[in-house]
Amino acid sequence: MSDDLEAIRAKWLEAATAATSTAELAAVQVGALGKSGEITGLVKQLGQIAPERRKEEGQRRNQLKEAVAAAIEARRARLEAEELEAKLGTDRVDVSLPPAPAPEGRIHPISQTIDEIVAIFGEMGFKVAEGPDIEDDFHNFTALNIPPEHPARQMHDTFYLPERADGTRLVLRTHTSPVQVRTMQATTPPLRIIAPGRTYRCDSDMTHTPMFHQVEGLIVDETTHMGHLKGCIVDFVRAFFQVADLPVRFRPSFFPFTEPSAEVDIGCSRKGGELKLGNYGDWLEIMGCGMVHPKVLEACGIDSKRYQGFAFGMGIERVAMLKYGIPDLRTFFEADLRWLRHYGFLPLDVPSLTGGLSR
Ligand code: PHE
Repeated sequence: MSDDLEAIRAKWLEAATAATSTAELAAVQVGALGKSGEITGLVKQLGQIAPERRKEEGQRRNQLKEAVAAAIEARRARLEAEELEAKLGTDRVDVSLPPAPAPEGRIHPISQTIDEIVAIFGEMGFKVAEGPDIEDDFHNFTALNIPPEHPARQMHDTFYLPERADGTRLVLRTHTSPVQVRTMQATTPPLRIIAPGRTYRCDSDMTHTPMFHQVEGLIVDETTHMGHLKGCIVDFVRAFFQVADLPVRFRPSFFPFTEPSAEVDIGCSRKGGELKLGNYGDWLEIMGCGMVHPKVLEACGIDSKRYQGFAFGMGIERVAMLKYGIPDLRTFFEADLRWLRHYGFLPLDVPSLTGGLSR
């Protein structure tokens, strides 16, 4: 019997030292000291032993149990320390490495284009301003020199909300120009803002969606003139389209809220049904602009004898389609993952003039 106990002790001490991982050691512990473990069994059998030998035998078996338990604990401490050491070795992070590219998520081309536009105008000292998508008549029309019976209201294909108690109706803003009004009302010149955001018109076909995006620009101070407007827009389109000698043309036009007003065309070619930007003799319209109308300044509480400035407005989908060769406007809003994987941008492709605008 005593030889048996010695053999069992040797076997489990050996098993404990031989365990090469905490998982292996746990198996040893279960085998020896678990509910139906071998040593647990020996202790349980004490009751069957003759009473005169029971005390001595009990001591021996308990000693055996404690010796094996101590060996397992010692081994566990050792293995845990080793495993921690190994983990610290392999988990080491080299913070100087570039992050792995995200495999799945993509930034929508609209978001990317807005970020690019903000980056360029940000360099020129413009701050981003915002306004609500649901506007009142004053901010969307009247303050912009579009009085109630003005034909420009029909041109805007406005979405009206149901009539309110006072008989007025809110609208979904038809352009980002109301942000001009809100900014002029809330702050004093000099001001220099751009306002990207959603706009809405009741219009839907190949080249129109009921919701689309615009970016508005506004400068008001005491000296800014049409020459600054031209320089600003020329710099912007060349930086945005990344064509250093891109021809830019200002064509006289009309907007109620600017005087004089112009539409901006950039050089392109349509040969062979393919659109290319550059000095090819053809022209493509990309935005509206002009000097802020004195009536607009006055409607916003700004002294038009002292202050002047320029404004511009541009469709974001339109310039995104041109820049990234996206042929169909409606695909922007179909939430098709295959489209997004193809035209979308990696989350870490953050545009900046120094780091590079995207591709
Ligand atoms: N709000 C005009 C539009 O939606 C664009 C524009 C903005 C024109 C600012 C001139 C100045 O078409």
